Amino acid sequence: MSPESIEVRPLAGAVGAEIGGVDLRDLSDDAFARVREALLTHGAVFFRDQTFDPDAQIAFARRFGEPEVHPIVEGMDGRPEMLRVHKPAGASASFGVGWHTDNSFFERPSLGSVLYGETIPPVGGDTLYASMEAAYQALSPRMQSFLGDLRAVHSASRAYDPDGVGREKYEGKAPLRYRYSEAVHEEVEHPVVRTHVDTGARSIYVNPMFTQRICDLAESESHAILEMLYQHCARPDFQCRFRWTPGAVALWDNRQVWHYAMDDYREHERVMYRVTIAGERPV
Ligand code: SIN
Repeated sequence: MSPESIEVRPLAGAVGAEIGGVDLRDLSDDAFARVREALLTHGAVFFRDQTFDPDAQIAFARRFGEPEVHPIVEGMDGRPEMLRVHKPAGASASFGVGWHTDNSFFERPSLGSVLYGETIPPVGGDTLYASMEAAYQALSPRMQSFLGDLRAVHSASRAYDPDGVGREKYEGKAPLRYRYSEAVHEEVEHPVVRTHVDTGARSIYVNPMFTQRICDLAESESHAILEMLYQHCARPDFQCRFRWTPGAVALWDNRQVWHYAMDDYREHERVMYRVTIAGERPV
C-alpha cells in the first residue's frame, strides 16, 4: 500500500477526517506515518470497509503503543485487551454514552482507541467527537491562564459504581460484564489543561464522565467552572459526527478529543470491538 494512494478528507473544521485508500492490516511504515500524522492533525480518523479480526485490530493498535487491559470492564476470552461492546436490540445503549475521553481515571490515561464496527443499526448509533484543542483555543487568554495551573481529580466512580450503573453488569447478566475492584473508587489528579506530547498543542482535559472536581477550589467554584467548561466544550463548532457502516474503523486521540456514543437506536443491535492504547501521564 503506497502512501501516495492515501486520501485524507476532513469531516468538519475542528475535528475528524475520513481516510481512504488503506487496508489497515497491511500498512507500510510510510503509510502508517501518514495515518499517524492525520490522527495528530484531525484528532479522530475514520476508515471504511476494513476486515479486521481481533488479532489484526490488536496488531494495528500496537503500532501506536501497548494495548491496555481495562481494570473494570471484562475483555474477551483469550483477548483481555479487547472489549466486545454489544448493545442488543430492545435495550438502551449504556457504554460510552456521555462526553468523555477514555480512561482519564488512569494515572496514565489512554493515548488512543481503535473501534471496529461489526453490526451497525440502519439508523442511529453514531459517535460524536469534539476537539478539546479547538475548545481551549476559543477561550479568552484570561481564562486560559486561570485554568493553566489548575489540576482536577478524576475517578471511575460516576460511570462504574455498581449502585449508579446497575448491578446486572457486575452480576454477569449484561452483554458487557464488569469486574468490581478498588479501581472503581481510586482518584487521580491531572492538569485541567494538558500539552500534547507529540504536537505541543494545549487542550482542555476535564470531562463530564470522569472528572470529579477541580483541586484547591471551593466545591461551588469547582462545580461552576466545570459546568462552564462542559457547556463550552460541547459547542457544535468543535464537533464532528461519524456515521458508522459495517467494517468501519474509528481511531481517536484521547489526549485531544472527547467522544460520545449516541443512544438513539433502541430497537436495533450494535456490535463493536474496542482496543485502547496505553498513554503517558498528562502534563
Ligand atoms: C466508547 O466510548 O469507546 C464507545 C464509543 C461508541 O461505541 O461509539
